[in-house]
Amino acid sequence: MNTLEDLHLERYPSTSNKSLRPYSTAELLALEYIGGHNIEKVYLYNDRFGFWNCMLYPLQTVTVWTYASQKKAIVQNLKRNNFSTEINYFTPLDSLEKVSLVLLKVPKSLELFDLFLYQIHQAATADIEVVCCFMTKYFSKSLQQIAEKYFYETSQSKAWKKARLFILKGPKKDVASEEFKKIISFKGKEFKQYFGVFSSSNIDIGTQFLLQNFHVTQEELMVLDLASGNGVIANFVQEQNKNASVTLVDDFNLAVASSKCNVNPLNSVFICDNSLSSFNKEHFDLIVSNPPFHFEHENNIEVTLHLFQEVFYCLKDTGRFVVVCNNHLNYATHLSKIFPSVILHAKNTKFSVYECVKLG
Ligand SMILES: C[S@@+](CC[C@H](N)C(=O)[O-])C[C@H]1O[C@@H](n2cnc3c(N)ncnc32)[C@H](O)[C@@H]1O
Repeated sequence: MNTLEDLHLERYPSTSNKSLRPYSTAELLALEYIGGHNIEKVYLYNDRFGFWNCMLYPLQTVTVWTYASQKKAIVQNLKRNNFSTEINYFTPLDSLEKVSLVLLKVPKSLELFDLFLYQIHQAATADIEVVCCFMTKYFSKSLQQIAEKYFYETSQSKAWKKARLFILKGPKKDVASEEFKKIISFKGKEFKQYFGVFSSSNIDIGTQFLLQNFHVTQEELMVLDLASGNGVIANFVQEQNKNASVTLVDDFNLAVASSKCNVNPLNSVFICDNSLSSFNKEHFDLIVSNPPFHFEHENNIEVTLHLFQEVFYCLKDTGRFVVVCNNHLNYATHLSKIFPSVILHAKNTKFSVYECVKLG
């Protein structure tokens, strides 16, 4: 195992907040725990910036990835340290084989934690050890309940630097198979989404406010649903303009997989990415979004502001950007620095819908 002092690690996307590191003490604690193990192969869950991939290099690892930005972060950090970037990737929906050792940073979404454990349990060897780590402030009793669905033995370590481990052993027999999709009814339609995807019990109220205050014209043919989640906005666009070609972009692979259940695939393109850099300048007539403003436990406006700049680049001169914002985030100020014209289209106590155009 490598030491932290030997490595050069950075976050991707980069941040101006210098207090944010590319690893947490919880991840360090998990590594220390497996330090004495004879490791043949270790499965890594939620290795957000590639810290475990780099620390464990060149041991055999399998990375279960969830975010496109996570894949980029891992590759960049491996490259920075002159390590090979050949990574054994799986998604949380893939089948795994003979899993006997796992490092798992508990995600904010406990539904996603449930899905992770289900996937692990399906391929668990009898002597499996699942080393979950978390910062103590995020502990919830549900963690225990979810773990007990799949494992007989669960134990917690002592806290170290506000972090703790949760060790799971003894895979249970006869665990019922599950699909891990939720069904949300909205406006007479049913939307399906995988566990862990944004707003799991209802269509987000911000999105609902956006949809109440937004109409697609018949001239808007090239449309982007940015940060598309389960695809509810793209579905609405398709309903309003049957001729529109809709591109959906989301950083989260389970969001993209969910949107494929809810959007007509003819005339749609699904992309798992955290950036719009693959699009040409002035590509879209309409870009519509309920943008992200937090990532796991961190609120991060920098990611959103970067996306707004990319929107400006790939929007046609005659195009428009329609975006719903939480009032407390004051996005109008930021949007006005990028777009010559930012019009407040609708507002309620919580949300505002803005229409931004390039030609003021
Ligand atoms: C507020 S939710 C909106 C989801 C969906 N449009 C809706 O209205 O229900 C924001 C979405 O942004 C995604 N996301 C986060 N960072 C992103 C990025 N850099 N690029 C694209 N999508 C991102 C999240 O995975 C999440 O699905």
